[in-house]
Amino acid sequence: MSRREAILQPVLTSTLLSTVTTTTTNTISPTVTLADQTTFPVCSFGLQIYNDQTAYQLTRTALKVGYRNFFASVLAGNQKGFAEAIRDSGIPRDELYICGSVVSNRVPGFDAAYQATSKGWQRNLIEFAYGNIDYLDQIMLDYPGPDVASIQGQWKAFEEMHQQQKVKSLSVSNFSTKQLDAVLAKAQVQPVVNQLPFSVAYHPNMEQVLAEHRARDILVQAWAPLGKSLGGRFNAAIRQKCAVIGKQYNKTWAQVALRWILQKGVTFTTQSQNPEHFAQDLDLFDFVLSDSDMAVLDSLA
Ligand SMILES: NC(=O)c1ccc[n+]([C@@H]2O[C@H](COP(=O)([O-])OP(=O)(O)OC[C@H]3O[C@@H](n4cnc5c(N)ncnc54)[C@H](OP(=O)(O)O)[C@@H]3O)[C@@H](O)[C@H]2O)c1
Repeated sequence: MSRREAILQPVLTSTLLSTVTTTTTNTISPTVTLADQTTFPVCSFGLQIYNDQTAYQLTRTALKVGYRNFFASVLAGNQKGFAEAIRDSGIPRDELYICGSVVSNRVPGFDAAYQATSKGWQRNLIEFAYGNIDYLDQIMLDYPGPDVASIQGQWKAFEEMHQQQKVKSLSVSNFSTKQLDAVLAKAQVQPVVNQLPFSVAYHPNMEQVLAEHRARDILVQAWAPLGKSLGGRFNAAIRQKCAVIGKQYNKTWAQVALRWILQKGVTFTTQSQNPEHFAQDLDLFDFVLSDSDMAVLDSLA
């Protein structure tokens, strides 16, 4: 067992984060095994809203630092720039984990939601084709439809993408437990990830939410793990408390906040435009927050 595995084994102890392996290609982010038995790097780089050129440059930097898991949301509007960076990196496709997304949540009713979602995943493949990417590791339904029928229509379209072997895993974002159950009631292929806002500064009903996801074998992936898209919640006082804890471990406030997420059995997608931060955000695997520090961090929200 490597030193990193020794560190992680007692830490990532939830059902979903119990299968931690190292890969030969990504020497920084460990992986977990999802409910569909696919392998998922725990640290993801999520592209934000900027132009294709910036997406290209940031993706190249993220690849150099060691990110292998990318969330290239349709809402960021730069899947083309991302895909071209993947192509030009020369890194074999099977060493990368690429997640796209579909937004079809404003369409009521089964048929209309099905059609909008079908168009949405096809549109992802058109954009990713700029980088010779002809399948996705994961496609994420970003926001549930407005009613149970529309959610099930969205899901039918996703299952067709899966049947056509254009994607390996299906996931959702911003789904409540009730909305997850609307999917699970009819699903042939179950969602394996739910991407939710989750950080030391924001985690409503945390223990209940995490238990409900564990019971359904659905991994939680945090968006806004450092609070960026959540306005001012992740304020200076919270950063300062993280920084004080970080001093004991020679880590920054951000590394403490990200490590707390992993120790809660959750993964994350973060982003940066600062080269130093890129590396820091993957340098999370040589320390373990103590139970007392975890308790302090639990209480910050
Ligand atoms: N599903 C959804 O509804 C949804 C909604 C929002 C976002 N997302 C996804 O989640 C991803 C991340 O969320 P987010 O955009 O809110 O970002 P975030 O990860 O919460 O925060 C990123 C911010 O933190 C800073 N940062 C990163 N590493 C740092 C470090 N080591 N030290 C200090 N500051 C650091 C970055 O600034 P610098 O550039 O200066 O490093 C940036 O301003 C997005 O890219 C997007 O893909 C999903």
